[in-house]
Amino acid sequence: MNELSVLIIGSGGREHALAWKLAQSPRVRQIFIAPGNAGTAVHGTNLPIGAEDIDRLVLWARGNKIDLTVVGPEVPLALGIVDTFRAAGLPIFGPSQAAAQLEASKAFAKQFMQEAGIPTATFAAFHDYTEAQAYARSCNGEIVVKASGLAAGKGVVVCDNLGEALDALRQIMADRAFGASGDEVIIEERLSGPEVSLLAFCDGKTAVPLIPARDHKRAYDGDQGPNTGGMGVYAPPSDVDVALIDEIMRTVINPTVQGMAQRGTPYVGVLYAGIMLTANGPKVLEFNCRFGDPETQVILPLLDGDLAEIMLACIDGTLQPDMVRVQSGAAATVVMAAPGYPGSYPKGLPISGLDAVPSDVVLFHAGTAAAGGQIVTNGGRVLAVSAVGADLETAVARAYAGIAHIHFDGAHYRTDIGR
Ligand code: AMP
Ligand code: GLY
Repeated sequence: MNELSVLIIGSGGREHALAWKLAQSPRVRQIFIAPGNAGTAVHGTNLPIGAEDIDRLVLWARGNKIDLTVVGPEVPLALGIVDTFRAAGLPIFGPSQAAAQLEASKAFAKQFMQEAGIPTATFAAFHDYTEAQAYARSCNGEIVVKASGLAAGKGVVVCDNLGEALDALRQIMADRAFGASGDEVIIEERLSGPEVSLLAFCDGKTAVPLIPARDHKRAYDGDQGPNTGGMGVYAPPSDVDVALIDEIMRTVINPTVQGMAQRGTPYVGVLYAGIMLTANGPKVLEFNCRFGDPETQVILPLLDGDLAEIMLACIDGTLQPDMVRVQSGAAATVVMAAPGYPGSYPKGLPISGLDAVPSDVVLFHAGTAAAGGQIVTNGGRVLAVSAVGADLETAVARAYAGIAHIHFDGAHYRTDIGR
């Protein structure tokens, strides 16, 4: 008991939630977060090492005898941090570089799904700009254009007509808005229906689902305004019952874990399926190879189980379904964002009222820093205010009651999360 030194990589609300949950594990002795934020510092020690500085991270982890490393964001996973740590004999929770291609290359993910018979939108992949334009013309508009590589959630354009489709192709392929991530483009059939995020722990052979969640990606109330990293989320959505979770496990998650194992690139970590519930059944919009942000801020408060034990079991290939117990009730998270987000925004705005938040709120820091004895904004998404309740209404009311105490200049948040 109490024997593990844990290193968490990343600095957002997701990483604060991971630190908060891991701190509750009786097996965890100390936590380090690289680089962390003002909230993670409550649960451990922040390290001045960037999340993508793999050489320094592995050196530090070896020198400090880290027993478990947990990777938050996708970029270090796509860069191969798991392979590097494993080669150094250090246990690390997350997929290898080869397995992380499920997120890092949409072309790979679509090809894989097609081969494995996993339901997803029909698609074509292009390296050539002229060919992509010709294909878009042949589809007459209603398509979705995606940069194949990582683009921080911004490389997807849902098009209403041919003009929009050609604009999207020009931005991604000619203007190179996402750099090399746009060297290859996916053009997809446009689907419709409500969305759900289903995340599952995977040990390479076995997958166990977490509670399903629904996020709110648009900046303003009523799903208006530009796309963001996520302005709020709730769990569970009332239209996703046990039978539907079973169906997604059977048609999506389990075949993915099996297919990756068969390829010799077993999937270890959290597999996040972004699903659209279409009239023809659930279909995959995307895979992420990590915990979602802000999904993690509702999923972990509803997880009844020892997160450190679950993660070590994933690494060891000994994951058991009964390790992952989901609490009854619901949870909601509302994101407080900096003025201007998701466009450009100022940093360093003093935040007040954090201590006045009621005890039934779980306050996760996202873009915050400690400066001169106070806490200031340090990112676009500043805070993720979470609460659990017997039902969704209660959870939502508690999260908003928490927000009412917090202030920083120009703060904006949606008032309709989970409503
Ligand atoms: P992705 O990053 O691939 O999940 O795409 C971001 C968002 O774009 C999704 O959450 C959906 O709202 C939308 N989207 C992606 N693919 C499609 C599709 N084939 N049809 C309709 N909407 C889509
Ligand atoms: N909330 C969406 C994501 O984490 O990608």
